[in-house]
Amino acid sequence: SATSLQGYESFMMKEIRESWGAVRDTIVGLMNDMEKLGKAVKAMDKARRILVVAAGTSYHAGLIFASRLMRTGKTVIPVIASEYENVKAGGEDVVLVISQSGETMDSLLAMKSFKNSGSFVVSLTNTLGNSISYYSDIALHTRAGPEIGVAATKTFTSQVGALLLISSLMIGENLDYLKEAESTVSSSFSKSIGYAEKIGVDVSKKQSLYYLGKGLGVPMAMEGALKIKEIAYIHAEAYPAGESKHGPIALVEKDFPVIFVNTGEHVDELRNNLKEMQSRKARVYVVSAGSELRSDQEVTEIMIDINDARLAPLALAPPLQLIAYYAAKERGLNPDRPRNLAKTVTVR
Ligand code: G6P
Repeated sequence: SATSLQGYESFMMKEIRESWGAVRDTIVGLMNDMEKLGKAVKAMDKARRILVVAAGTSYHAGLIFASRLMRTGKTVIPVIASEYENVKAGGEDVVLVISQSGETMDSLLAMKSFKNSGSFVVSLTNTLGNSISYYSDIALHTRAGPEIGVAATKTFTSQVGALLLISSLMIGENLDYLKEAESTVSSSFSKSIGYAEKIGVDVSKKQSLYYLGKGLGVPMAMEGALKIKEIAYIHAEAYPAGESKHGPIALVEKDFPVIFVNTGEHVDELRNNLKEMQSRKARVYVVSAGSELRSDQEVTEIMIDINDARLAPLALAPPLQLIAYYAAKERGLNPDRPRNLAKTVTVR
């Protein structure tokens, strides 16, 4: 069952392996209720602004959604749930609240406050009968099944799948590319596991590292950095690669680890940033989807082939999760039960 280890040494590994089925079930499940999904899409289409409200990993999934729509000219404001007081919403706005558990107190309070100001609320949660879906006007669900590991894995990948679908419907894109969502995640897992172990073991000896990306690679970098902090207790920061020269590069010296997260969209700029890091003798790694970044043989690069650029975030999720997993393992840590963290945070 979903709540027993079934021979796996950890729930995290088991759940990463369940992520492609979870993405498939999520997309199929949403499409099976096109009436409800259509209502949510219509409400967001008509909205003056969409506020995307979430915490932690769910916020990173929300950033992917926000970027995709902002590129089309839509006004989308990502709001970290605990910071909701900084944004005033009204009746012309739609709030999309994203939460795996549906019980995160910060997200619940934020959505209630926006709802009280008259905003229409759409939720995306992974459980049935949770508080957030109860208080929302339209409750959509990912279908990842129960997630036991404290650090989100398959629920994140499922949120990304759901949000690709929803944003594609809003943009009016053909949905055919999503037929490859499942195979993209599963082949990414098989292709990356060996390299991810090598990178995870390498960085496990370090105290600090950077994750640098561009475009949708930025939220993916943020998620990679969060994952390795959560379970391996390694200090990690994510930055837009182009921004790294405005401060962060000051820390880079011989063997400082830098992981580039490459969605294949901005290869030339990223390669320049990579060379800047190499000229400071950084230890550079690359996780790529779509097209290679490799500048020389010194660089360990995980290269995931994809048939459509929009699949890049799905392809990048497994290697980033696996790097954190192997770093934790190498440090002798139990990835399922990180200290100080809870699966569901019901306090402010
Ligand atoms: C906790 C968990 C994180 C999670 C966050 C948001 O901090 O440790 O893994 O991303 O809550 O949870 P939610 O259930 O709202 O997605």
